[in-house]
Amino acid sequence: MAIPDSFIEELVARSDIVDVVSDYVTLSKRSGANQFGLCPFHSEKTPSFSVSPDKQIYHCFGCGKGGGVISFIMEIENLPFRDAVAFLARRAGMEMPDESEDDKERQGRRTRLLELNRAAARWFYENLAKPEGAAAAAYMRERRITPRTAKIFGLGAAPDDWYALTNEMRKRGYTDRDLIDAGLAKKGKNGGAYDVFRNRLVFPVIDVRGSVIGFSGRILGDGEPKYLNTPDTPVFQKSRNLFALNLAKRSKRDMLILAEGNVDVVMLHQAGFDCAVASLGTSLTADQARLIKHFKENVVIAYDSDAAGVKAAQRAIGLLEPAGLKVRVLRMEGAKDPDEFIKTKGPEAFELLLERSANHVEYRIDAVRAKYDMDTDAGRLGFLQEAIRMLAGSFNPLEAEVYIGRVAELAGVGRESVAEQLRIVRRGLAGKNRKDAERAVMRPERAVQPDSKRIRYANVPSALAEEGVVKSLLRDPELVKYVGGLEPEDFSAAFLGKLFGTIRAKAAAHEPVTPAVLMAGLEPDECAHLTRLLQEPVNAANAREAMGDYIEVIRREGLKTKKDRDIMAIRENYQKKKGLGG
Ligand code: UTP
Ligand code: MN
Repeated sequence: MAIPDSFIEELVARSDIVDVVSDYVTLSKRSGANQFGLCPFHSEKTPSFSVSPDKQIYHCFGCGKGGGVISFIMEIENLPFRDAVAFLARRAGMEMPDESEDDKERQGRRTRLLELNRAAARWFYENLAKPEGAAAAAYMRERRITPRTAKIFGLGAAPDDWYALTNEMRKRGYTDRDLIDAGLAKKGKNGGAYDVFRNRLVFPVIDVRGSVIGFSGRILGDGEPKYLNTPDTPVFQKSRNLFALNLAKRSKRDMLILAEGNVDVVMLHQAGFDCAVASLGTSLTADQARLIKHFKENVVIAYDSDAAGVKAAQRAIGLLEPAGLKVRVLRMEGAKDPDEFIKTKGPEAFELLLERSANHVEYRIDAVRAKYDMDTDAGRLGFLQEAIRMLAGSFNPLEAEVYIGRVAELAGVGRESVAEQLRIVRRGLAGKNRKDAERAVMRPERAVQPDSKRIRYANVPSALAEEGVVKSLLRDPELVKYVGGLEPEDFSAAFLGKLFGTIRAKAAAHEPVTPAVLMAGLEPDECAHLTRLLQEPVNAANAREAMGDYIEVIRREGLKTKKDRDIMAIRENYQKKKGLGG
């Protein structure tokens, strides 16, 4: 069921954007109306993230993100619209309007399971100091995990007992159902519950809000299975969380280190690399890549150096790059994983490795190679062309130099001929870049394009007029009288048309039009562009005439597009006929 606008209005009124943002960003007031802080969505050293208390919107001049209080929560908490509204409603002490008994029950259930998880984590931790936790404590010492690290991570001991946790939590009022739902217990043959984690070192999984959402337990020594993990539960989805992100998100380092193992992460933190995380016993997911992007721009992959690790790293690059992250890959020579590397070579050596971590060009070369059949001349030629284009496009000549030899070797040609090809491609690219740059200067319209490629304007003059219509109507909804027969379908930019439709409907019903209501129907990138529009001044004089001009432009451009389409249709038809004839 849709959430009524009236509810959104009240929610937004009760959720001051400065308050909400201040939970995540330290804002400071400057002379102007806006408050500034360090953008939580990209890493930066000088504040370009601004919040306007008057307009109740935020905007980052660095990364272009922007929107209202709801889109802020969607973005930073990684929540869909509805959940972001529910999140703010809880914060504002409002009850969700159409929250059914089911929803309420589900929420109550979640709260209960989180409490149980927290109680269990504390109990596991306390066991470390007790006789029943001695074996786990000894194993921790053997792995050289210090008590201080154990405290930071909340590591704990699951006793060698089938019922220790279950009995303890029953005493505290939790039912077997609670324990089973949380993934802490399983139902036995006789119907009673028994502990899942027994005789293991326990790693709690804590989300970015600080809730204990699940556990991972390592066997004390060799044996199978090495790890047991909480299955997906109402409070835990392993594909959407990362181990230690709660700690890493606060790191001063401008990157995340992505490792494979829990022990690797713990040892990295202990050695001062407090930005390390790991996926939770599965290979990396697109959700996790997006989650990372909320906190950092740079990812350094530090997977195991065996063949499986190399393959996993290639896969991870394919998910991290599309999420907009800058990726590097560590090569740990002489050690199988970060844990071993740090233990044998020391933290300083790892720090050097980080500094030197090359761009992941070798992985990319291998990825290109995998696309071609290298046993045929045609395949090798295809590989050569694509690899050279990649080298020319992504690397400066010095960097590329290093890899020319590798490409030549794989393609079975001489180094010098690869180098020559590269020079030619590079010259071609330089010419193109220069032309692009000149064009950008000639056409100031570039500056008006939305940051998001997805919603780039196909027809800039029309889109500018459409923006004018939307901005004028937002400033003065009365102007709706002068839009004539303009329809949302007449807009060349679909989201501007959508906005126009909403504004027109609201104005007709004499209802207020607020940014919050408008943004409710938009995608995040559309919100960001709308925010940019809202900050541009509107020419209030001659608003009525301006509206007429805008509409004329939209109509004229619309006709042109239609004509283009007609001409294209004729041409296509002609070519088809010719094809048939020939
Ligand atoms: P590893 O076997 O590399 O474990 O698996 P590790 O944490 O580095 O442990 P050590 O250093 O060998 O003692 C990497 C990750 O894969 C998941 C765990 O999340 C582990 O941290 N895994 C591994 C499982 O979920 N189940 C398993 O049986 C093994
Ligand atoms: Mn490992």
